[in-house]
Amino acid sequence: MDKIILVTGGQGLFGRYLRAELGEAGRYPSREELDVTDAAAVERRLARGDVDWVINCAGTARGGLESQLRANALAAGELARACAAHGAGLVFISTARVFGQGVGPFAEDDPPCPVDDYGLSKYLGERLVARELRAGRYRIVRVSMALGLNPRAPHGQLIPRLLELAARGEPVRAAADQRTSVVHAAWAARMLAQCCRDDAPNGVVHVASRDLVSLYDLAAYVFAGLGLRPGPVPARGADFHAPGLAPPADQGLRSVTWPACGDWRQAADLFICERLAA
Ligand SMILES: NC(=O)c1ccc[n+]([C@@H]2O[C@H](COP(=O)([O-])OP(=O)(O)OC[C@H]3O[C@@H](n4cnc5c(N)ncnc54)[C@H](OP(=O)(O)O)[C@@H]3O)[C@@H](O)[C@H]2O)c1
Repeated sequence: MDKIILVTGGQGLFGRYLRAELGEAGRYPSREELDVTDAAAVERRLARGDVDWVINCAGTARGGLESQLRANALAAGELARACAAHGAGLVFISTARVFGQGVGPFAEDDPPCPVDDYGLSKYLGERLVARELRAGRYRIVRVSMALGLNPRAPHGQLIPRLLELAARGEPVRAAADQRTSVVHAAWAARMLAQCCRDDAPNGVVHVASRDLVSLYDLAAYVFAGLGLRPGPVPARGADFHAPGLAPPADQGLRSVTWPACGDWRQAADLFICERLAA
């Protein structure tokens, strides 16, 4: 039997680019087809024995701590347990927000210290995956920010959300004092697919860009590339977060194990071309 790669949350942004990367080798169930918080359904799917790897793209940065813990942490732990029981490997997508208020760019061996709900839930997910698959195959892939088109949730990410605000004629503000490592989702998908090779080591991998960019500079570049006037207005990161929970000035990632994907302008140019062609 040919084994497949199961991409959970397969109808989201990364799922879309993984489909382009993996094609027929993958299966891309929607939440309706496989809800990762349903441990029995996950166990039944893995018990069919046809899965070589799971790439877990199911997750959320929305809702309170409880729902994020359920989707990002407890579900990842159950998924890892089912993978261990049925001989599958697991790629778990995590975030730079596990580094909380430390100052990046962060490498794989920097100590996480999450402060917000999303970072906490993803970090717990990482630990549960590592525990359940300690004798198996797992990769934890951290991403800071990925650009790309997702027709099913066109305004799910920061830059598309800002574009949507502008389209409604509302003012657009972006933090000028926070830098991130921006990659294109297609590049991240290629790395996620490479993580499914058995010669890649277990552990944490950062999807890093060659350079960092502030959220304001990124938004201004994309707006200019799309010919949109007026552009965004610079703001402070602290304006968008609960007191004490603002991410640090540099929340980007670097990698000590994998080469950087590209620079942020290349990622933004690709995104601009996709938007113009859509
Ligand atoms: N994009 C980034 O910049 C970035 C950066 C760091 C980490 N990540 C993480 O990478 C993963 C994939 O990101 P993405 O950008 O592809 O997100 P996305 O576009 O929001 O896609 C996530 C998908 O997961 C599905 N989903 C949510 N809860 C689920 C559940 N309980 N069971 C099954 N499916 C569920 C969603 O379905 P619905 O549409 O029905 O909700 C959606 O299709 C997420 O865990 C995200 O936190 C993303």
